[in-house]
Amino acid sequence: MVTGAAGGLGRALAAALHADGWPVLLTDLDATAVAEAAAPLGGWSRPLDVRDEAACAAVAAEAADRGGLGLWVNNAGILVTGPSWAHDAATRRRVVEVNTLGAMNGTLAALAVMRAQGHGHVLNVVSLAGLIAAPGETVYAASKHALLAFSLGTLADLRAAGHRGVHVSCLCPDGIWTPMLHDRLDDPGAAVSFTGTLLTPERVAARAARLARRPRPVVSLPRWRGAQVRLLDTLPRLAVGLTPVIAAVGRAGQRRQRRRGGAERP
Ligand SMILES: NC(=O)c1ccc[n+]([C@@H]2O[C@H](COP(=O)([O-])OP(=O)(O)OC[C@H]3O[C@@H](n4cnc5c(N)ncnc54)[C@H](O)[C@@H]3O)[C@@H](O)[C@H]2O)c1
Repeated sequence: MVTGAAGGLGRALAAALHADGWPVLLTDLDATAVAEAAAPLGGWSRPLDVRDEAACAAVAAEAADRGGLGLWVNNAGILVTGPSWAHDAATRRRVVEVNTLGAMNGTLAALAVMRAQGHGHVLNVVSLAGLIAAPGETVYAASKHALLAFSLGTLADLRAAGHRGVHVSCLCPDGIWTPMLHDRLDDPGAAVSFTGTLLTPERVAARAARLARRPRPVVSLPRWRGAQVRLLDTLPRLAVGLTPVIAAVGRAGQRRQRRRGGAERP
């Protein structure tokens, strides 16, 4: 079961899981687009707004009825850019409702089934922005930090309660060339997404498919970027001082991607 699977990473993820032998249920806010995405992958799709807790529970129950719920991927997410004071309250709320509360809804809906059946795996798509503050993507980064804390805390609670067969993993990728970033090559607020390795959705999906088979609490992609941002996160004064340098590196990354004509990296 994959949320936000109509396009971008979610669609690639569903395809990678399908290729790996999983029967995949694709869900998304956009019912038509997700049905189209599902057609070559077994044709199983449902419209689902992850902000709807009862709808998440209904999808989990349906998947369980079709032979057990092995894997639930909370992938749906939205990005807003600009300084934290630039957004109105409704925008801030929407980001947290989709990225944090939506993934909590999905995690808890899946865990209700998985705790009862004694096995299962929730894979939460976080971001490097869940590991370090991301200037220009501040509200997004806050929503992803909350998701990481929720996921790891839930995993620890599962172990404390004796659920050894139920896993929670977090995938923290660098920037991915998906519709989330396609129209942000001129957006200075999105520069941090272009400071490292711009990944293809297929590369991230392949890592996610491996993670699906072998759960790990936190996986960064690429690994060196995870180590880099975690180190910087321990030095907040340095990180804040480096903001202009980081922004300049990001804008160079945006220019590079524009010169490439927005093409996928090999
Ligand atoms: N693109 C990146 O640079 C990047 C980097 C790291 C992590 N991520 C994360 O990867 C995940 C996928 O992002 P993407 O890049 O494919 O974005 P995307 O915008 O290309 O796709 C997001 C999908 O989520 C769906 N969606 C939005 N709100 C929803 C809701 N309320 N309920 C259900 N579906 C909803 C959209 O319809 C869309 O199909 C997100 O969680 C994102 O935060 C993205």
